[in-house]
Amino acid sequence: MQEPVEIAVIGAGTMGHGIAEVSAIAGLKVNLNDVDKKFLDNAKIKIEESLKKLQTKNQLKESFENIANRITYELDFQKAVSSADLVIEAVPEKIDLKFQIFNKLDMYTKKSCILATNTSSLPITEISSAVSDPKRVIGIHFFNPPVLMKLLEIIKGKYTAEETVNIATNFSNELGKKYVIVNKDVPGFIVNRLLVRFMSTARLMVEHGMASIEEIDSSLKYRAGLPMGVFELADYIGLDVIYFVERALSERGFPVPIDHLLESKVKENNLGMKTGSGFYVYDKNKPRAIISEELSSKVPASLVLSPAINEASWLLANDVATKDDIDTSTVLGLGFQKGLLRMADEWGIDSIIENLEQLRERLHMDWLEPHPILHKMKNEVRLGQKTGSGFYNYI
Ligand code: 3HC
Repeated sequence: MQEPVEIAVIGAGTMGHGIAEVSAIAGLKVNLNDVDKKFLDNAKIKIEESLKKLQTKNQLKESFENIANRITYELDFQKAVSSADLVIEAVPEKIDLKFQIFNKLDMYTKKSCILATNTSSLPITEISSAVSDPKRVIGIHFFNPPVLMKLLEIIKGKYTAEETVNIATNFSNELGKKYVIVNKDVPGFIVNRLLVRFMSTARLMVEHGMASIEEIDSSLKYRAGLPMGVFELADYIGLDVIYFVERALSERGFPVPIDHLLESKVKENNLGMKTGSGFYVYDKNKPRAIISEELSSKVPASLVLSPAINEASWLLANDVATKDDIDTSTVLGLGFQKGLLRMADEWGIDSIIENLEQLRERLHMDWLEPHPILHKMKNEVRLGQKTGSGFYNYI
């Protein structure tokens, strides 16, 4: 198999157009495909707007034209993929749709072509059952916006060949991204398992009257130093995307409660920034949520993030990820200033356990039960920075 020089991206939505853009910036020829010309036209506008911003800041090594000309907007699926060395599927998170796409990829791609999925949550092994040679199927998970976020999660399915992994890691290097390899094909991988835990906790806290949307966002942004509040981030990702990801996770043994707050927004088509309204309201004069710093001390950021720390403990206990993978993923994939486990050590493991117990009592979710790893750390007085040892050592 050769290094990819030509790639195809299937799906020109938020992620697909960003993946096409970042690949073209890296010098690859890209065919971007979707089912309707209006999606391709919209993608072209977004890509060009983004390239112009980067050009204005001298962040492009080549001219705008050179990069933009590397992207072909192709409505014909077969033409888009037939000479590609790597295909990245970035269609909505619906398993039947993924099966249809991978069935067609099986028919129309070269036998040496790597078939990657940018799925947010669906197991790679499940998706790879749609092709005759699952050795060439892999997860390459980007983060929104792909052009700015520095991380890729590379996920091996049960049958993924080592050569396929090598090509995916080389591709990541070519794009100038850091990658983490997810050792086990668990639904939601690393980042989205952590994200969904604190996102759904935040929504449940609002529904149970424990805090308001803005109080939670203010605390996360101004106390914990996250680049966006969690409701603001949900609006940025798209509430429909979050909804489908959470449903897909729930159907695969990772329970996420259906809450009225998210469901009602999706039913009303208030899908976040892209529709002008979600948890916040947006317009041309107000493209970003305005979150008051004055509300930042109403709810502790550690309370909202403790369920993610609990999930990180599960990832460690099940050999899905290392401490470094978890902290790299939260810093580069979610833009945290510090890794999640570093923050846990600062807050203290005893306090994380207390937070989880408090949340469990109010929200009645089994997944809020503190993980045995946390209890063990507490029993061994490895409480974090204050005792010299926690997830990390400090002496
Ligand atoms: N292309 C080019 N430039 C862009 C851009 C784009 N697509 N988007 C933003 N920018 C530029 C802006 O123009 C701005 O430039 P300036 O400093 O010269 O004015 C700069 O980036 C910073 O943007 P903003 O001032 O609008 O806002 P921020 O400083 O908050 O940065 C952000 C934006 C990088 C998106 C930051 O808020 C962030 O990191 N947010 C968290 C994003 C995140 O967590 N992503 C992962 C979500 S999970 C996921 O995607 C997985 C999926 O499976 C669900």
